[in-house]
Amino acid sequence: MTREKFSTRIGILLALAGSAIGLGNLWKFPYEVGSNGGGTFILFYILIMIFLCIPVMIAEIVVGRYTHKNIIHSFIEISGKRSWGFIGVIGFSAAFTIMAFYSVVGGWTIEYLWNSIIGTFNGFDVPQLEQYFNEFHKNAERPVIMTFFFMAISTLIVMLGIVKGIERMSKIFMPLLLFFIIILACESLFSSGDNDGLEFLFTFNPDYFNSKTLLEALGQAFFSLSLGMGVLVTYGSYMKKRENIVKMAFSVAALDLFFALMAAIAIIPTLFSFGISPEEGKGMAFIVFPSVLQKIGGSQFLMIIFFSVFLLAAITSSISILEVVVSFITDKFAINRKKATVIIVLIAFMLSIVCSLSFGKFSNLTLFGENIFGIFDYIASNILLPLGGICTSLFVGWRFNKEVVKQELSNDNSIKLYGFKLLLFALRYIAPIGITIILLQSIGLF
Ligand code: PHE
Repeated sequence: MTREKFSTRIGILLALAGSAIGLGNLWKFPYEVGSNGGGTFILFYILIMIFLCIPVMIAEIVVGRYTHKNIIHSFIEISGKRSWGFIGVIGFSAAFTIMAFYSVVGGWTIEYLWNSIIGTFNGFDVPQLEQYFNEFHKNAERPVIMTFFFMAISTLIVMLGIVKGIERMSKIFMPLLLFFIIILACESLFSSGDNDGLEFLFTFNPDYFNSKTLLEALGQAFFSLSLGMGVLVTYGSYMKKRENIVKMAFSVAALDLFFALMAAIAIIPTLFSFGISPEEGKGMAFIVFPSVLQKIGGSQFLMIIFFSVFLLAAITSSISILEVVVSFITDKFAINRKKATVIIVLIAFMLSIVCSLSFGKFSNLTLFGENIFGIFDYIASNILLPLGGICTSLFVGWRFNKEVVKQELSNDNSIKLYGFKLLLFALRYIAPIGITIILLQSIGLF
């Protein structure tokens, strides 16, 4: 059976950007920036993106597009050894872990969208929104039901396949998302009045110049670019041979950074003007964003659009996580896409229930002060994704025939390839050594 391929170039770009841009940008980035010293974090983030992430992105896409296979079989095919499939296994584990906690937050966005539609938040101020959020996410049933809806939407899209499901959705929702994030950032800039927030975002604070900030920035960059778990290998495997991989990787990274900064600009200055600490944490986007929207004239319509967009950003990412697993299961067990998708989502849903309850009923189950949700996030973003990144860069740098990589990146010499030596150097040394040091430091071994 021939493998389905994305039908247009813009479709691939938007699907990749759709995977990258998600809750990581709108919800996680602003609070990571807030709790890790603003400008210092952003500086680390950009450096890591250029020197560590973009090479790994290119490496992942090459593996997928060269073999046109799923995350496990592509590594096996290139190396000729089954044991190399373990890189795919890391990705596989990360996919389940991320799906579990990501869908919970996806469920929260559905709750907020629904309540915007029925007008619950009209006239709410920050303390009221704060109270609403606290009561809702600690509840035992409602968030679980919302998580179920979120997963059901992702399931339906993935069932439709690459072109009719993933590509079509990305083409519709990503431009909308761009439009709205710009409106929000502009509104925040023009209405927050004081510039303390912007100053916080763009000045270097030496107190945060340490390995913790560096690790947080690394985890966030990997998470935000959907790296280290095979999304790019999987999407790459649906790419036609004529696409320019290097250009694609740079474009996706630039779009992702742009969205992250826009989200931070939309949130942080507003926080400052309300006198709320920028370290507010995970509830930030659910408390501050709605209040920003209230300020734009209390427009309920805008709030509905905003939460739809928030939800769509989450969905275009969630489908990419699901597709990694679906692509492997359908190849390996020769069961059809629809059946595979449902089975996988049911397993992930069980994990999501545990994550959701970890804010309420199971909140006393903690490790190092984190609840189960936090542990899942930590294991995926700070351990599995970096580990996947180290292995992929070593694999492409040392094991994959470099002439073949060169041919693949230059589309058999039909496009000019700049900086191949630099890329190889980054994959062989800079990325694996850099990521390993940061990883070891974080677990206290270095
Ligand atoms: N990149 C997505 C985001 O920023 C999350 C994600 C992580 C998606 C890993 C796929 C794989 O929200």
